[in-house]
Amino acid sequence: MNLKRTLFFSLPLALFSMYRPVAAQDVAAGKALYAQCIACHATDANNGVGPGLKDLVGRKAGTAAGFRFSRAMKTSNVTWTEKTLDAYLAEPQKVVPGNVMPFSGMPDAAQRANLVAYLATLK
Ligand code: HEC
Repeated sequence: MNLKRTLFFSLPLALFSMYRPVAAQDVAAGKALYAQCIACHATDANNGVGPGLKDLVGRKAGTAAGFRFSRAMKTSNVTWTEKTLDAYLAEPQKVVPGNVMPFSGMPDAAQRANLVAYLATLK
């Protein structure tokens, strides 16, 4: 086998073995971070101090059945997506001014990405 042939066959293999799907978000890490939310938010539809977060991604803010939301949350006109959740968790009062969630925010973007990835699994 000449060099060209060797490269032709081994290079794609080398590249392929180097490739592994890099998860930008880490659901397991997000689940651990959820410890900061669990006191108020169930992962199912049950409401506590805060609304249950089942089916959060895709729903309109302030619409979880049976939970008494603040006027600010009800009229925010926000739909929870990965993007709006990231912004809300960074600075809750900036995204929904006047909301009554007693949480000052999670400044670390990587942590937020992991947490939001976990929130997206709540179905
Ligand atoms: C001390 C209690 C408390 C903690 C801790 C808390 N929340 Fe909340 N959360 C609330 C309350 C109360 C509301 C409703 C706010 C309102 O109506 O203005 C809320 C609302 C929300 C909403 C909007 C839900 C909807 O259906 O519109 C999301 C999303 C949310 N919280 C996520 C989180 C996440 C994620 C964490 C953890 C990082 C967290 N919260 C920590 C009490 C809390």
